[in-house]
Parts: sequence; structure tokens; C-alpha cells
Amino acid sequence: MKKIFKLLTLVSLSSCSLLGFQSFAFAEMTPAGQEALVKAGETMYQHRCRVCHSNDMEHPSYGPPLKNILGRKAGSVPGFNYSDALKNSGIVWNEKKLREWIKDNKSVMPGTRMRHVGITDKTEQDFLLTFLKHISK
Ligand code: HEC
Repeated sequence: MKKIFKLLTLVSLSSCSLLGFQSFAFAEMTPAGQEALVKAGETMYQHRCRVCHSNDMEHPSYGPPLKNILGRKAGSVPGFNYSDALKNSGIVWNEKKLREWIKDNKSVMPGTRMRHVGITDKTEQDFLLTFLKHISK
């Protein structure tokens, strides 16, 4: 009996570590899973971005609104006072650029007015990207 229990623990531990190394398999994800991911991303956003960013295009806060950020040209929200660095960057925000930005925005773009955020954890980046995609529909 004890042996079986040990075996089960081993099996569940190894499947956990397997999961840890897997990246998200969006293709196989059910709508419930997708919804859970968006919620996880929203939580990240509330904790790490919301203090400076709203989604409301009419009422920007300290940072520019992030609604429809995917596919948007950097520094292009009318009326927002961007740094020259961001305005002249020539970036069009895609998933790769956003990932680099939230990982280390100050290194990607010296001269930006956005305070350094360092979201280096791949899973946290995945959550945030899912949410940013969600508000870009
Ligand atoms: C301390 C305030 C602050 C925090 C926290 C913050 N930002 Fe920003 N963000 C800014 C400011 C200010 C700008 C404009 C920077 C400039 O003009 O150089 C900006 C710009 C951006 C841009 C470029 C937008 C555009 O219109 O081109 C993106 C994308 C962005 N932030 C994403 C995020 C994300 C995602 C988070 C959370 C992980 C985050 N920011 C956290 C203040 C912040």
C-alpha cells in the first residue's frame, strides 16, 4: 500500500514538473481554460500596469490607454504626451515586442518615460499577453 502511495506521489510530481516546462498549448485549450487565462492576465494587469494604464481611450491616466495595443503604432494615442524615444521608435506593437517591453522596457528603449517593469517569468508574460490580446479585439 505504502509503495503504491509513493508511486502515485512520484507520478503526480513528475507530471507537475512536466507541466512546468510546457508552454501553453492554446490550440487544445477549452473556452473555460481560455477564460481562466484572461482572468489571470487581468490580475497581473491590475497589479502591475493598472496604476498607470487605463483601457479607456477617452481618459488616459499617467500612461497611455492600452486598449487595442496589439497592432497599434507605438506612441500614437492622440493627445497623450509621449517621450520622443517612444514616439520616434517606429515600433508597431506585436506579441514579441510587447514581451520584450514588459520584460525590460528601459533596456529596450532608453529614454522612455515608463518606469522599469521587469516581468521576466514566461508564464506571467503569457498571462499578460493573453489579457492584452483580449482587450485588443
Ligand atoms: C509607473 C507607471 C507605469 C506602469 C506601472 C506601467 N506603465 Fe506602461 N507606460 C507608462 C508611461 C508613462 C508610458 C509612456 C512612455 C513614454 O512616452 O515613453 C507607457 C507606455 C506603455 C506602452 C506603449 C504604449 C503606446 O501607446 O505606444 C505599453 C505597451 C505599455 N506601457 C505597457 C505596459 C504594461 C503591459 C504594463 C504592466 C506590465 C505597464 N505598461 C506598466 C507608465 C507605466
